[in-house]
Amino acid sequence: MKSLDGRVAIVTGGASGIGAGISDVLGSEGARVAVADLDLGAAERLAGKLTERELEAIPLGVDVVERDAVDEMAAAVVERWGRIDILAANAGIYPQATTEEIDDPLLDRVMDVNLKGALHSIQACRPAMRRGGYGRMVLTSSITGPFVGAEGFASYGASKAAMLGLMRGAALEVTGDGITINAILPGNVRTAGFEKLDRVYRDQIMRAIPMGRLAEPEDVGWAVRFLASEEAGYITGQTLVVDGGQLLPEGAL
Ligand code: NAI
Repeated sequence: MKSLDGRVAIVTGGASGIGAGISDVLGSEGARVAVADLDLGAAERLAGKLTERELEAIPLGVDVVERDAVDEMAAAVVERWGRIDILAANAGIYPQATTEEIDDPLLDRVMDVNLKGALHSIQACRPAMRRGGYGRMVLTSSITGPFVGAEGFASYGASKAAMLGLMRGAALEVTGDGITINAILPGNVRTAGFEKLDRVYRDQIMRAIPMGRLAEPEDVGWAVRFLASEEAGYITGQTLVVDGGQLLPEGAL
């Protein structure tokens, strides 16, 4: 018996990076996983790998910015598996630009994917969770924004802090439905997206992590697994930092 046997999960941005780690952990723990991603090919490859390991997974193409597409994603999962128990709203982008460089299209794009995408996902999954009388929504925020700032990431930090405001309000609204909404706040995670950031930034980050390594996507996946579990049912509107101690030292760097 695995901890998530019988559960149905959707992971947005689930095909690569942190999302792939979440998809892998939830699938390994017995959930049926819809790997939902803008990159359908990557979603197909990951779902195929999970299926080869005799886990249950399907790929879905979705742009979380598009409300109709997100509604269709939820409908496809209900049609396939009859329910939605877990949402990992993880799709996100983090373009690097100084505050001076941020223009309106960049800000709009970051807020559209990171904040609006999370809102669409919450809205699309809530009806099925309400019908099932059970739901666990976990948003991927970040330490950047809610706790710390990083040069070149003001727009990103704003979007990730805004996600917590969304989470807290929404969490209160769904308590009667048996649904919890929480957020994980990763530090720095070894993903393709992180590897694309400039070397100076990455070196600085490596020096700042007391555990001496970046998080692996699965480190984040296990935190999601906890918040997605039945046992976490009394925890809602909360944040869980997964950062290898990065926020701890006084006088860091
Ligand atoms: P990544 O770039 O490696 O993967 C992101 C995935 O989301 C990709 O598969 C991409 O195709 C998908 N995606 C992007 N836009 C989408 C859209 N509009 N609709 C659907 N899918 C979309 O990124 P990574 O590093 O795995 O980040 C995932 C989440 O974790 C993001 O929300 C990010 O802000 C957050 N995060 C990442 C950290 C890191 O160090 N990598 C640290 C803290 C938070």
